[in-house]
Amino acid sequence: MSWFDLAGRNLISEVDWTREEYDIAMKVTDQLKGAYYSRKPHRTLEDKTFAMLFFAGSTRTRMSFETGMTQLGGHAQFLNPSTMRMSLEDKPGAGETVKDTAKAMARFCDGIGIRLLDDGIDRYGYADEVMQKFGEHAEVPVINMASDINHPCQSLTDIYTMHEKLGGDVKGKKIVVMWAYTPWIRGLCSVQGTALISSMYGMDVVVAHPPEYDMDPNVMQQCRDLAKASDGQFTVENDLDKALEGATVVFPRNWFTMDRYQIGKEKEHEIALKYKDWCYTAEKQALTDPGYLLQCMPVDRGHEAMPDVCDNDRSWIYDQAENRLHTQKAIMTLTMGGRL
Ligand code: CP
Repeated sequence: MSWFDLAGRNLISEVDWTREEYDIAMKVTDQLKGAYYSRKPHRTLEDKTFAMLFFAGSTRTRMSFETGMTQLGGHAQFLNPSTMRMSLEDKPGAGETVKDTAKAMARFCDGIGIRLLDDGIDRYGYADEVMQKFGEHAEVPVINMASDINHPCQSLTDIYTMHEKLGGDVKGKKIVVMWAYTPWIRGLCSVQGTALISSMYGMDVVVAHPPEYDMDPNVMQQCRDLAKASDGQFTVENDLDKALEGATVVFPRNWFTMDRYQIGKEKEHEIALKYKDWCYTAEKQALTDPGYLLQCMPVDRGHEAMPDVCDNDRSWIYDQAENRLHTQKAIMTLTMGGRL
């Protein structure tokens, strides 16, 4: 296994890359972060272009990819699909097909990032299908910038941040991915991604949620398989206090039920309102040991986590957000054939 094996590869699901490949990505992240802070040029992708197709809004993902490409000597091109002629429907009369769009885009750029989730689709799994289709037809790497199922750039950032903060040793450490109330009604990509990558690295992973909020059964099986292979643990718990006992890291985040696209957002909110007490508060943090806050942001302060927990010395959120820049520079360098 060499880091050159990642040249040309897609990253759509967390499980597209092996643990050894994520280890390489983290080593390259270390090098790029070191170069950034020692003000050494690291123009690994000079004159290359990364095209970013955003069907949904973003603060961190857009800024970190765009800034990252500038620092790597290349260019990130922001594309708003509403200004293009593509249709996801792939039927006569609807618009340009995904296949033709992907093939044409690949003639102009060296990598393609896609964000498609939440209100941009009408059934769970559809965003992943679109990204797979891009991956099949584009002759450049396709990077998932958040779909309905996965968020691998965030997941690499999460495991990198945990290694960085916990002195390089995450094995056996307890992480609780906890459902939390917010009226925002959010997708599953971040929480499923963190559960997957933590399971891959042998952590004691607990997914805590009210009974209605089972995650994608396929992803849960992937977590169990990864935990088995890494000698870690993966459990699901409906009792939040029990789940939080002795946790090293806590990720509080809302996600919608697997029925969201059948029942609609209003019904989703009605279900969520039953669990307004599912919030990461100072009292809940007191059950942990020490319950560092890992939260990919945006966080609903006062609902998902209380402001004092977001701002105390056990909160990692801003360092975690910054690490998106460094990890994605590694992903782009590796997949787009850059050299340090
Ligand atoms: N965590 C994350 O993906 O943030 P944005 O939605 O702001 O990109």
